[in-house]
Amino acid sequence: MTGSLSIAARAAYILRDNSTGVITKAAPSLYPHQWSWDAAFNAIGLATIDLPRARLELDSLFAGQWRNGLLPHIVFDPAADGYWPGPAQWECAAHSEEAPAEPATSGIIDPPVHAIAVDRILAIASSLGDPEYSRTLEWVRGIYPRLLAWHRFLARDRADKQTGLMTLFHGWESGTDNSPRWDGPYAGVEVGPGLPRYQRKDKAHVADAAQRPTDREYDRYLWLIEEAKRASYDAGLLRQRGSFQVGDVLFTAIYACASDLLASLAVRLSEGEDAAELKDYAAQARAAVFCHVDEASGLAADVDLRTRAWLKTETIAGFAPLIAGVMPLKLRKRQVSLLLGERWAGHPTFKFAVPPSTTPYSAAYNPACYWRGPAWPVFTWLLTWALSRTGEYAAAAALRTASLAQLADETFGEYYHPVTGAPLGSLHQSWTAAVALDWLLEQE
Ligand code: SER
Repeated sequence: MTGSLSIAARAAYILRDNSTGVITKAAPSLYPHQWSWDAAFNAIGLATIDLPRARLELDSLFAGQWRNGLLPHIVFDPAADGYWPGPAQWECAAHSEEAPAEPATSGIIDPPVHAIAVDRILAIASSLGDPEYSRTLEWVRGIYPRLLAWHRFLARDRADKQTGLMTLFHGWESGTDNSPRWDGPYAGVEVGPGLPRYQRKDKAHVADAAQRPTDREYDRYLWLIEEAKRASYDAGLLRQRGSFQVGDVLFTAIYACASDLLASLAVRLSEGEDAAELKDYAAQARAAVFCHVDEASGLAADVDLRTRAWLKTETIAGFAPLIAGVMPLKLRKRQVSLLLGERWAGHPTFKFAVPPSTTPYSAAYNPACYWRGPAWPVFTWLLTWALSRTGEYAAAAALRTASLAQLADETFGEYYHPVTGAPLGSLHQSWTAAVALDWLLEQE
């Protein structure tokens, strides 16, 4: 088999191996449930090989949606074991009338990439023609109200009135758990009395525990779950009391482009009024991202909403403007050259020219630890998707080629050491296999 064919075959095998028959586990042992943004990326990869499974992936995820539209960051598989904190720690239905009794879920959120997945699934179905296209369009009609409820929930409960940025009450909500972008806000989180004693399980699933967040960070992660429970998972109460409140530029950028795509879907489904509402959400979110670009670094900065301080650590989230979409040409050109330059993908020590999660120029850079330095293929995919969308085809192709070279060892790591190129975290990570499949389809 040639290189590309072999990668594709292996990626497809991994997605099949990680399937329970209904959902795709985010990873075989470290993450044996369905994570919200993982599921969306998995659906994108599945669409290239098995459209019914791609649709089922999102249907299963949305089965865990709350009555108020919140789409939880984990939907638990009752048959799976080995992950912690599980349903017994979240106790969502006991604390909030909005949460479903079944399936059990977490009570926080993940970045809203789901409309991107639905758009890709529909595009692939459309290229195949009928009957797949009609079937998929019918499915889109069914899932659309749930997506709309999710976007309305975010506009209503999470848009910060002053900055326009989406508010997060837990670092996990950003998807970039221990990124140094959150070091400042976490330093202000005091673990209060009543934190239950706990035993972590995650460290047992990786080759070296140093690739995972520290115990000190976990104390804070757990404490914020306690806070959320005590606030009945209510955003209004968390705004009054939450000890971690940040405006996330990356989450907001994803919301902006996903709202644009959902608006286009609304037009297609003849839901004109919804389309106007969604375009408005997109425009407001995009404006908020552009207002938070730090002139000195050229990167977007998150905001600590408790102190109003801009968080300027140079992390990959700074490229939020590229993801948000339509942008002033000057800013786009500056971000593209920054992304490919030596501060990011083009750093001279790197084995593959893909961007790390934190630049080596930052004092917080740690090339082997989770979101503090390693390169994440799924994030590179998000960038290549966004670059193609804004017409930066050469940059998108360069990152795609480098990332596929990184994946040629066929281990499909969760993240990679930028210098040695070694896979880290979980191996056989579903979303890494999924984005490889999408890249290979693009390359055809
Ligand atoms: N990413 C977190 C974990 O590592 C939770 O969402 O478990």
